Amino acid sequence: MKILIINGSAHRGNTWKLVEQAKNCLVESQKEIEFDEVHLIEAGLPFCIGCSNCFRVGYEKCPHYNVIGKIIEKIETADGIIIATSTYNMRETALLKNLFDHFCFMLHRPHFFKSKALVITTTGGVGGHAAAKSVKGTLLGIGFNRCYTFSRASFSWNAYVPNNKTLSSLRKVVQKFYKDVESRKLYNPKTKLLIPYNLFRGMSLAYIPGTDYETEDGVYWTDECRKGLVYAPGIEVAFYKKPIGHLFYWIGKLAGNMKGMKVTYKK
Ligand SMILES: Cc1cc2nc3c(=O)[nH]c(=O)nc-3n(C[C@H](O)[C@H](O)[C@H](O)COP(=O)(O)O)c2cc1C
Repeated sequence: MKILIINGSAHRGNTWKLVEQAKNCLVESQKEIEFDEVHLIEAGLPFCIGCSNCFRVGYEKCPHYNVIGKIIEKIETADGIIIATSTYNMRETALLKNLFDHFCFMLHRPHFFKSKALVITTTGGVGGHAAAKSVKGTLLGIGFNRCYTFSRASFSWNAYVPNNKTLSSLRKVVQKFYKDVESRKLYNPKTKLLIPYNLFRGMSLAYIPGTDYETEDGVYWTDECRKGLVYAPGIEVAFYKKPIGHLFYWIGKLAGNMKGMKVTYKK
């Protein structure tokens, strides 16, 4: 089993202590686990410059593709992903947010449908849940199938010693994550995920090849493999959720054709 760890903290501090515990716990479950670590502080990913190439012509045209392409490939090939972030200002760190800015095109064209994540964060006292929720929201938005979260208050600057209660709760979450990754089960998407998914499915029809402002979104959403589906090919959707998906597809289609709603760009 391959586990990718993305460290969004600028150092190996309090949060990393929990990550190390999580690693130990995973190794206890399976000796052959292979870990790969991406420490964003060392990855050399510049800030997103807002060129919008990823949205318009494909993420391979991102000026930072040499870094971002490798990270995307690592996520695609990992069985499970652990995302670590310190809680700063009640959210994820700027380092991790910068990675997510480079992933924003996948909110239009979700991608990682088979990926499952465990988000680990520590906070001084408050805001850990909000930070974990923010990361989880992004991951589910870009297609992740499942996301577990673990947040704890460290009450410490770099000298955190997790107590037994924390370690035992962490162990429970890690075991759930491990079993889920091992099962390879793909879950039915929640209704709230079908809304943005299908809005983009509908809206993107206004940007297909041959239109005034064609984009990569238009190419993605007209791919035969997605035709008529309210969620990713190969992922079951409960029958009672399908009409909701179709409804938002039609709303998206109407919105995409409304006067004044056209998203333009400099040619
Ligand atoms: C820039 C900065 C922002 C922080 N923001 C918060 C915050 O919003 N809420 C909080 O309770 N603690 C905050 N803290 C404290 C850290 O979240 C806490 O010490 C955490 O355990 C640090 O994890 P790390 O050692 O992995 O970086 C902040 C610390 C720093 C350096």
